[in-house]
Amino acid sequence: MTIAVLIVAAGRGTRAGGGLAKQWRPLAGKTVIAHTIDAFLAQNLTQICVVRDPECPVAAKILGAYPGLLLAKGGPDRSTSVRNGLVELRDHGVSRVLIHDAARPCVSAELIHAVLEALDHAPAAAPGLAVSDALWTGVDGFVTGTQDRSHLFAAQTPQAFHFDAILNAHVALQGCAADDVEVARKAGLPVRITPGDSNNIKITQPADFTRAEDILRNSMTSLPDIRLGNGYDVHRFGPGDHVVLCGVRVPHDRCLQGHSDADVGMHAVTDALYGAMAEGDIGRHFPPSDPQWKGANSAIFLRHAVALARSKGFQIGNIDCTLVCEHPKVGPHAEAMRDAMAAIMTLDRDRISIKATTSERLGFTGRGEGIAALATATLVRA
Ligand code: CTP
Ligand code: MG
Repeated sequence: MTIAVLIVAAGRGTRAGGGLAKQWRPLAGKTVIAHTIDAFLAQNLTQICVVRDPECPVAAKILGAYPGLLLAKGGPDRSTSVRNGLVELRDHGVSRVLIHDAARPCVSAELIHAVLEALDHAPAAAPGLAVSDALWTGVDGFVTGTQDRSHLFAAQTPQAFHFDAILNAHVALQGCAADDVEVARKAGLPVRITPGDSNNIKITQPADFTRAEDILRNSMTSLPDIRLGNGYDVHRFGPGDHVVLCGVRVPHDRCLQGHSDADVGMHAVTDALYGAMAEGDIGRHFPPSDPQWKGANSAIFLRHAVALARSKGFQIGNIDCTLVCEHPKVGPHAEAMRDAMAAIMTLDRDRISIKATTSERLGFTGRGEGIAALATATLVRA
């Protein structure tokens, strides 16, 4: 199933004030239309057609930043603009289409998914916001009556359709229609109402820019807080018969020297976690000068970093560790290392990667003088 997004951006924006049409103006760090396009791209809806005035150089420049877009020519009214976009999409194997106003840059992921899901049960669906204010009729500045609002909804976009059904409905349309729901209904299609969102405003008047800016800035600050950290460690070989790497005892003709058990991989992962929190490194939390850490099991350090992250409200997204040595061979032990790290970190093993490389016999690892380890960790806080 191919889902396309049709964004109509060929209006003049007269009510929003003179100058450049509203959809091309700056808003919260980018342009109005860039917020609108990005909202769909973020949902992996990448087949996008924008209907715009082909003579507008600002439009060309802004849309030029999105190489995969399809473009169609605007018409004198919104219905014609939509029809032009549908015709442009006709030969692209599209089965479902979302038709959206460029002037609604605050559209949310939930709203998009709700209309799309409704298309499994109906040929058309659109978000409607139940009217909550009392409604009056009025003439010459006086109230002449009240209106029952129990069956009234404010119409929003994106409005979603089975593609062939809405294309045929537009082609058959006589006269004009307020929106695509009206076009669909005139063609006899039932239209499902999905939940609207009071933040999904259509920028119409000049004051709407401030409101949209507030809504967008708020939703940006509620993005998950993602931290990335890296760690690097080296230990030198000494006499011995095994090394400990990522919690696994690996037989070898030498051991790794260090103050603790010298588990170089685990140290790099621990430092990556501390780094992601901007909490220094192992040496800061467990000073080598302190005799109590002599020969210590490195799992103590790793558990501390994991607990510190969780106490700050972070979840561990993943860790990735690379061990650099010619010998011992890490591959046969890598799965056991993932299991050992998963148990210490109480983390799913599919979030843990342990891999190894040689350094082509170059440098200190290549000469077999020691082992180096690099690690990356991500922390996520909602
Ligand atoms: N639209 C369009 N082609 C038209 C008219 C409108 O593509 N001939 C688009 C607008 O760009 C907007 C959406 O339809 O994204 C909703 O229309 P509206 O809010 O009325 O925008 P404008 O027509 O641009 O504004 P105004 O009516 O104030 O001039
Ligand atoms: Mg208009």
